[in-house]
Amino acid sequence: MTGVTTCTFASDAIGLGEAAGVLARGGLVAFPTETVYGLGVDARNSDAVARLYAAKGRPSFNPLIVHVASLDAAETYVEFDDTARALAQAFWPGALTLVLPLRADAGISPLVTAGLDTLAIRVPDHGVAAALLAAFDGPIAAPSANPSGQVSPTKAAHVADHMTGVIDRIVDGGDCAVGVESTILATQPRPTLLRAGGLPAEAIARAVGQDLAMAGDADAPTSPGQLASHYAPKGTVRLNAVEAQDGEVLLGFGAVDAQLNLSPSGDLVEAAARLFDALHRLNAMGAARIAVSPIPDHGLGAAINDRLRRAAAPRSG
Ligand code: TXA
Ligand code: MG
Repeated sequence: MTGVTTCTFASDAIGLGEAAGVLARGGLVAFPTETVYGLGVDARNSDAVARLYAAKGRPSFNPLIVHVASLDAAETYVEFDDTARALAQAFWPGALTLVLPLRADAGISPLVTAGLDTLAIRVPDHGVAAALLAAFDGPIAAPSANPSGQVSPTKAAHVADHMTGVIDRIVDGGDCAVGVESTILATQPRPTLLRAGGLPAEAIARAVGQDLAMAGDADAPTSPGQLASHYAPKGTVRLNAVEAQDGEVLLGFGAVDAQLNLSPSGDLVEAAARLFDALHRLNAMGAARIAVSPIPDHGLGAAINDRLRRAAAPRSG
């Protein structure tokens, strides 16, 4: 899949109109959301979705998130129960992906759901993503715009570094404010956290008035594609490091002496926004051994620790 000319568009009306045209013709367009940059295709076009899987090198059993403009648009693709509707009203647009029963008449490519009878769907909270969805006027399937298993992009330059020559367009919309992917939740048979992410699980639990089940609990649904090794920088990763050992680069959090610090003041929101850029920087520095400070496990810390545990997991090859 090399040899494609990758153009970067500004996020103005002309650039977005052109990007929407590329999507309509079955092309691959990277665009910003509040969480990370997505690599979008028309979710109804199986040829385009197949190209997307190939461009990412993604295992095809790993289904995709569909992005839509509004709750009304989402209702045309999935069945909402009362809990799901209340959560969508409370948190959309935003970093919450709901996994819900796919409607028989949805018209979504079966490659998007990898053959499941549920669909992961969200309304992104980003002006450029919203404008692109409006210009395209259809559902956009979009995983993070990085090669499968590698660090997710939070800047257009991260996308360009890894996907130039493989995708058609990049819409540059600046840095992603949240910096970690959306929280994924299934509501049936009970509210279940499938992936910690940019919306803290505590906020969802408060909204539904009960603790969330975790993927893998008895009776709870599971999420395919939660691969153990993911978000992997080139170097090895050691977690909960109080200080760096010889030959390690410390990725700090809080008041520690570190070459790179996710948040010197210990702010988890700031740390989430900086996490993936820090991993990209460690790659650029050629860091072979990375030590990471302990990070509290509440709020966005749960998403940060999830990504770091997987960055530290043994690589499959
Ligand atoms: O913030 C985000 O969610 C970003 C931006 C671009 O929106 N997207 C993203 O997509 O992180 P991706 O493809 O990297 O992660 C999608 C996750 C996968 O781990 C997949 O297993 C899960 O969503 N997923 C998709 N459809 C599912 C379904 N029907 N049931 C359970 N899990 C599903
Ligand atoms: Mg991803």
